[in-house]
Amino acid sequence: MERTFVMVKPDGVRRGLVGPILTRFEQKGFKLQDLKLMMIDRELAEQHYGEHRERPFFGELVSFLTSGKVCAMVWEGPNAIAGARLLIGQTNPANAAPGTIRGDFALEVSENIIHGSDSAESAGREIALFFGDAEEPDIPRFNIDEID
Ligand code: TYD
Ligand code: MG
Repeated sequence: MERTFVMVKPDGVRRGLVGPILTRFEQKGFKLQDLKLMMIDRELAEQHYGEHRERPFFGELVSFLTSGKVCAMVWEGPNAIAGARLLIGQTNPANAAPGTIRGDFALEVSENIIHGSDSAESAGREIALFFGDAEEPDIPRFNIDEID
C-alpha cells in the first residue's frame, strides 16, 4: 500500500471542482485517508515548492497558491503515487490527455487545478508538511467509547 499527497489548488476550489476530483479518485478505488480545506501561507507554499525556488515562475506560483483556499488530501492504494499522477495528467493542461483532470478542466500551466506528489520521497515530505508526521489524525475528533 502506498500513500500520496494531492491538493486541489485555489483555482480548482474556486471553480467548484473539489467534488468531481474526489469522485475520480474514489471511482478509481483509492481510499481517502485525510482531507482539509485550508489557506496556505507564503512560507508553506515556498517549502512545498522548494525544488522550484530558482525557476522564473516561482514568484507567481507562490502568489497563486496563497490566493485562496486549497483542499489538501492524502490518498492510499496500490501504486497511489504514480496512479494519482496518471489521473491528474501532464503538467501543462495543453498537453494533458482528455480524461485526465488537467486535460478535462484546465487550459494553462499557471492554473492547472491540482497537485500530486511525484515520488515516494515527495509524498512523505508533503504529507508531513501538510498533515504532520503522526500516523494518527492530528486532531482527535471523538472518543469512540463515548459514542452510543
Ligand atoms: P512541476 O512540479 O514541474 O509540475 P507538476 O505539478 O506536474 O508536478 O511544477 C509545479 C507547478 O508549477 C505546476 O503544477 C504549475 C507551475 N508551473 C508553471 O507555472 N510554469 C511552468 O513552466 C512549470 C513547469 C510549472
Ligand atoms: Mg511537481
